[in-house]
Amino acid sequence: MNSAQNAPLLPKLTSNMGLKHRNTFGFEAYAELAYEITAAEQLPTVVADIQRQNLSWRVLGGGSNVILPSALPGVTLLMNIPGQEILGSDEGNTFIAVGAGINWHEFVAWTLEQNLPGLENLALIPGTVGAAPIQNIGAYGVEIADYIDSIEAFDTGTHAFVTLPKEACRFAYRDSYFKQHPQQYIVTKVVFKIPKTWVPRIHYADLAKQFIDSKDKQNVSAQDIFKAVCAIRTHKLPDPKVIGNAGSFFQNPVVANTKFEALREQFPEIVSYPDREGMRKLAAGWLIDQCGFKGKTVGPVGVYQKQALVLVNHGGGTAKDILALAQSIQDKVLNVFGVELEIEPNIL
Ligand code: EPU
Repeated sequence: MNSAQNAPLLPKLTSNMGLKHRNTFGFEAYAELAYEITAAEQLPTVVADIQRQNLSWRVLGGGSNVILPSALPGVTLLMNIPGQEILGSDEGNTFIAVGAGINWHEFVAWTLEQNLPGLENLALIPGTVGAAPIQNIGAYGVEIADYIDSIEAFDTGTHAFVTLPKEACRFAYRDSYFKQHPQQYIVTKVVFKIPKTWVPRIHYADLAKQFIDSKDKQNVSAQDIFKAVCAIRTHKLPDPKVIGNAGSFFQNPVVANTKFEALREQFPEIVSYPDREGMRKLAAGWLIDQCGFKGKTVGPVGVYQKQALVLVNHGGGTAKDILALAQSIQDKVLNVFGVELEIEPNIL
């Protein structure tokens, strides 16, 4: 038996690690203990150790969808698992395996370089590949769930590596099994399934506008869409490197049609989208905007001036500041429209 081969792979451990640059809000935060996970094989030992000591723990990807407190007790796992590989193809699809630590946007750009179009509507979404399925990232009429074949994960209960087919992931609007059961699985790899037949999706209003003048809409390429999405996002959403933020701070609320009709009577301009039967999705940004919050600043935090759905940290803000502002927005929207807004990023 080769003992070196069987030796536990121990990842790097750091005490009191600053996470200001690992969360896009730019909050000052410290992890009591942080492991940098660079291979799935490190997880069994690390998780066993955490459980033996009964420590609290959480996983951090790109930190683009989290609200960090100033101190994270116990263990924080920084997911840096690399790798992207074209596995092969069947008649209709190409399969790609990607490590949880890969940057989402760089992966999307890479698929286009490989001539595997499909993910271009999801360009410029911050974060990592491993974090993307947790909240089923989506933009401009596309969700990551449409392109997932399976997910490889470490089951922290049984200590086994598992492959979860897409159906087991229970994807829904900004939701998944992983989001509902936060500490059961640690995602290590995502296997994507990219159809060989490519169809451009430019029906979403903002995107359609970009192509309104192009004479030959049929000839729009994936690169064109990629560029258009990058342009819209750059224009509308603040760059976290410049202004701290976590993208949309609230989910777009889904209400019963009857409720929607009553609202439309009172607010004819209300922005909404069709949803599952009997329901209607409302644009939370519009509701917040109507309540007068757009561009408002409260101490170090505020509401972005170009998009009311995005809360920002102008510098020196904390989770407490942002949650207080969120609460005042939720209260007002409930008061004016009778609609409850749900916070989108994970509060750690
Ligand atoms: N609106 C306003 N005022 C605002 C913002 C929006 O009136 O300040 C109205 C506009 O009429 C606009 C509508 O609300 O047409 C919807 O806004 P937008 O098109 O910007 O999209 P969204 O619903 O705010 C969602 C996602 C985004 C995603 C975009 C594009 C959610 C919670 N957000 O935003 O995702 O990029 O659509 O598909 O579903 C994210 O999750 O972090 C995120 C950025």
